Amino acid sequence: MIIPDRLVVLDLGCGENKIPNAIGLDNVALPGVDVVHDLKTFPYPFENQQFDKIYLCHVIEHFKIKDINKIFNECHRLLNRNGYLIITVPHVFSISAFIDPTHKSFFTFGSGEFWSKNNIKAYYTEINTDLKLVETSCRVNWFDWKRYRMKKLNNWFSKIIELRIKKALINKNNPSFADRIVKRGAFQLVEIKWVFKKLNTEL
Ligand SMILES: C[S@@+](CC[C@H](N)C(=O)[O-])C[C@H]1O[C@@H](n2cnc3c(N)ncnc32)[C@H](O)[C@@H]1O
Repeated sequence: MIIPDRLVVLDLGCGENKIPNAIGLDNVALPGVDVVHDLKTFPYPFENQQFDKIYLCHVIEHFKIKDINKIFNECHRLLNRNGYLIITVPHVFSISAFIDPTHKSFFTFGSGEFWSKNNIKAYYTEINTDLKLVETSCRVNWFDWKRYRMKKLNNWFSKIIELRIKKALINKNNPSFADRIVKRGAFQLVEIKWVFKKLNTEL
């Protein structure tokens, strides 16, 4: 999906890896962080509908579901009409999901649907938004080799796995095929990416 550039972008939980040209928020004053704020303290220090894109990259897995729901509601408040919320998380069956002992929530490709407007299970998540899931995709890092030659092999193999998973994800009725590829593979990192669009319906 191509999302237009030159937009006002917020990167929540940016760490030292802020999205270029974004306003970065984190609860630790790391280099590149513009606003030091706890994601569990509401409201965040921004006006309504101030951002065209909001990123939460490898952040929501650090929270329990009740807090994730509140973060979604807050992102909805901050997003402009037709704005995008872009989320990445490690897939539950990839090794990276369990390296960090501070992770509290785990996800499959289908988990994003639970926050999507009109999904039959969306009522579980207690959110009051009209965010619609418009894309589910992935990025794979098979083995994370450090040596140059092995790195090339890693990149090549990772791309092949990525294509297989993306093909499996096209079959919307059965995304678990994609989850099963990840479960069988013991990959270092399979990163799930969800893109939500704010619909601007009457809530
Ligand atoms: C795994 S790092 C991801 C950093 C960056 N987004 C990236 O993709 O490389 C998680 C980040 O979330 C931040 N974080 C965790 N809990 C937070 C909280 N309660 N409020 C604000 N930031 C938080 C951490 O400080 C850390 O920078």
